[in-house]
Amino acid sequence: MEIIHVSAECYPMAKVGGLADVVGALPKYQNQQGHIAKVVMPMYRTKFLYENEWEVVHKGFFSMEKMNFDFTIIKEINNKLGFDLYCVDINGLLDREKVYGYDDDTERFMAFQIAVMEWMSRWEHRPDIVHVHDHQAALIPFMMKYCYAYTNLKSIPSILTIHNAQYQGWMGWEKAAYLPAWDTWNWGLLDWNNTVNSLACGIKTAYRVNTVSPGYMKELMDEANGLENLFRAEYAKCTGIINGIDYKVWNPATDTYIMDNYSIKDAAAGKALNKKKLCDDFGLQPNLPLIIFIGRLVHEKAAELLPDAINNALQTYTGKINFLILGSGDPAVENALTQMNQQYVGYYNSQITYNEKLSHLMYAGADFLLMPSRVEPCGLNQLYALRYGTVPMVRRTGGLKDTVIDIDEQGGYGLCFNYASLYDIDITIQRALALYNDTVTLNAVRKTMMAIDNSWIASAEQYINLYNSVR
Ligand code: GLC
Repeated sequence: MEIIHVSAECYPMAKVGGLADVVGALPKYQNQQGHIAKVVMPMYRTKFLYENEWEVVHKGFFSMEKMNFDFTIIKEINNKLGFDLYCVDINGLLDREKVYGYDDDTERFMAFQIAVMEWMSRWEHRPDIVHVHDHQAALIPFMMKYCYAYTNLKSIPSILTIHNAQYQGWMGWEKAAYLPAWDTWNWGLLDWNNTVNSLACGIKTAYRVNTVSPGYMKELMDEANGLENLFRAEYAKCTGIINGIDYKVWNPATDTYIMDNYSIKDAAAGKALNKKKLCDDFGLQPNLPLIIFIGRLVHEKAAELLPDAINNALQTYTGKINFLILGSGDPAVENALTQMNQQYVGYYNSQITYNEKLSHLMYAGADFLLMPSRVEPCGLNQLYALRYGTVPMVRRTGGLKDTVIDIDEQGGYGLCFNYASLYDIDITIQRALALYNDTVTLNAVRKTMMAIDNSWIASAEQYINLYNSVR
């Protein structure tokens, strides 16, 4: 079957968060299972764009109210990714370095979606499934059904995957005029609480909706940033499919970012070598437990608790513990974490940036990964940690709850806690110290974690079943 993924991010072309990892991996596994999966995304000016070869496959134009745009679709030609990658170029809107964060993001992603529709509607064949990801692509199911120019796409089933329901793509009603002529009887499908809500529209109009873990889907019925009632109303077409991780990119035995590769057989020794290098690079102590945090420094991830939680720990367990942080986000959190670099030289370091290579070195070299997230639709970092034999310390929420079992439970391997609070983090750090000092248990837990299969194989199959249910 032919599947077209539409997304604002795709690794390695452009990554802000886990969305990119999923859209960069799932199509690869679908192709391996005999399907034809392709990805369409905006043509941002990224390193990957300049370092690869592309051909132009389509040129077109469209207008949004009084604004006229030419667009170009290019395709990566060396098939480096395991799927065909198409990028949409729109001068003046998408030709920028960053993915999000501009004042005209509404116009940018509206234009992106219209260009995708214009292009697809001119194909000689029709794909079997159009699979859109998050609110930046969530108006596409609506346009397929109700825009007069695209009636030839009307009968193709669409799937919406929600990687994060906090962000919904709200816009004032005046911006609905950007859409190509549509059947205005259906205005209600665009609306939620008197504004155009792209995500709500996608939930109402896609054939099926899924989130990236069953646990998160359940939580959305109670708390979904204003969309709870919609999720309850559309319950019958909503499901959860847990993400996998790309086992080719994330494999300590073959990872080209790390110097000392290791596998389940020599995990303790392999991790010790990686830890030594990592600690040397950041002036930390390889003989002490190392707890890391990797991710966006935002409220959702409870990142503003990190400075106090780490201060407390470094003062209570002085000389017994190390921390290393990698991430960027909220400037106040960034500043607090940076200031501590001077205060705790030798036991703490923070790198305020996004660095794919360093993240691999950290999973390989660390003992524990802390994720106190308030909201975590799936969470991939805990899955990377498991694969690298690094014990996840996670709040019981969303996908974290679905993928990590506490060591005190049968078959357990992680450290779980209930609240995004300093108290819960402290208790969990105490448990981490105890586990670290119990080498026999720690080694057994590592083996258990590394043997878990979180590859895409099973999840990719669940997506195929979902597609088949609507074809
Ligand atoms: C978002 C979510 C994260 C999920 C990822 C991929 O980044 O916050 O939990 O793992 O999307 O689906």
